[in-house]
Amino acid sequence: MDESLIATINKLQDALAPLGGGSSSPVDLPQITVLGSQSSGKSSVLENIVGRDFLPRGTGIVTRRPLVLQLINRRASVKPQSDLLDINTTSENGKASENNADEWGEFLHLPNKKFYNFEEIRREIVRETDAKTGKNLGISPVPINLRIYSPHVLTLTLVDLPGLTKVPVGDQPKDIEKQIRDMVMKFISKPNAIILSVNASNTDLANSDGLKLAREVDPEGSRTIGVLTKVDLMDDGTDVIDILAGRVIPLRFGYVPVINRGQKDIESNKTIRDALIDERNFFEGHPSYKAKAHYCGTPYLAKKLNGILLHHIKGTLPDIKMRIEHSLKKYQSELSMLGPEMAESPASIALNMITNFSKDYNGILSGEAKELSSQEL
Ligand code: GDP
Ligand code: NA
Ligand code: MG
Repeated sequence: MDESLIATINKLQDALAPLGGGSSSPVDLPQITVLGSQSSGKSSVLENIVGRDFLPRGTGIVTRRPLVLQLINRRASVKPQSDLLDINTTSENGKASENNADEWGEFLHLPNKKFYNFEEIRREIVRETDAKTGKNLGISPVPINLRIYSPHVLTLTLVDLPGLTKVPVGDQPKDIEKQIRDMVMKFISKPNAIILSVNASNTDLANSDGLKLAREVDPEGSRTIGVLTKVDLMDDGTDVIDILAGRVIPLRFGYVPVINRGQKDIESNKTIRDALIDERNFFEGHPSYKAKAHYCGTPYLAKKLNGILLHHIKGTLPDIKMRIEHSLKKYQSELSMLGPEMAESPASIALNMITNFSKDYNGILSGEAKELSSQEL
């Protein structure tokens, strides 16, 4: 995601936290939720958006419990001593790892254990999935909660979900189709859920169960983005141009074609960075896409998501403004009752903080609003 947006929104959230009156953030950021058939590439898309390798991916039903992934922005400055011990770890194959003391994961089911190695995070997701579902491809609606702390993320929640499927395999229940559908509906019905409707390009969009569900919960298409994966696997001479042009199933925010790592790439540990380079080269070099290559690929998808996030935040502004004004009035009247000798009182300090904050806040927002109006969603 765009670093300046991350900085702005995180600043906003930090500043607003004292006014939140509890755990809920006054800037109610959306949850980004994937929706699509099994193996359409949902986990791959989420992983590319986060920019770290940590989700189990693969053919067949790999994601078998919801994964609620909270990204938490954390400034890099303060490092407790214990964190420093974990710098320069190497991965199992002996190569210097990308692991970094500034970024770690924590699972709700393993409090106080910090995972600095993202490969270990992936193993823990697999282990914890098996622990609750049995090894034979069962599913469970009980989410795995993972937090990732990093200076490079926007404080935001992403949800990875099992794919829609029809035929039970292994120990799966006979009504697996309904069970997964119910599980998915619970997440995508939330009004602040942004739905990434993921569809493989080598399947027929008209048969997409995911798009049908997205329409049910978001008939206006105001929070659904279409993602077309596996463009690299399409038959020669075919492309997704008709879909992009809105001639198949139009979506208000349109579709973004992407190329994730294939199964061979996963087995050979191809990095996200290399995958992004190959993705760009593919679109720029392809006769169907080269004229519109900047509307294709993962970076454009991330940009589009940013636009929708800003749009959503703008929508919550009136409520936030009201809260600030309410707090100001409350503190002002409390302060006036205390009299002039209380100028250095905690209430007065709070009032100053809020006043200064209101100024900052309005400054940030007018800047962002300008950016938004000039930005294509
Ligand atoms: P999910 O079941 O929807 O979460 O899908 P995964 O992300 O686990 O991917 C399923 C399989 O499809 C994996 O083997 C991926 O490597 C592969 N895959 C996903 N996206 C693409 C893509 O854009 N191109 C290619 N060639 N393979 C992909
Ligand atoms: Na899969
Ligand atoms: Mg998956």
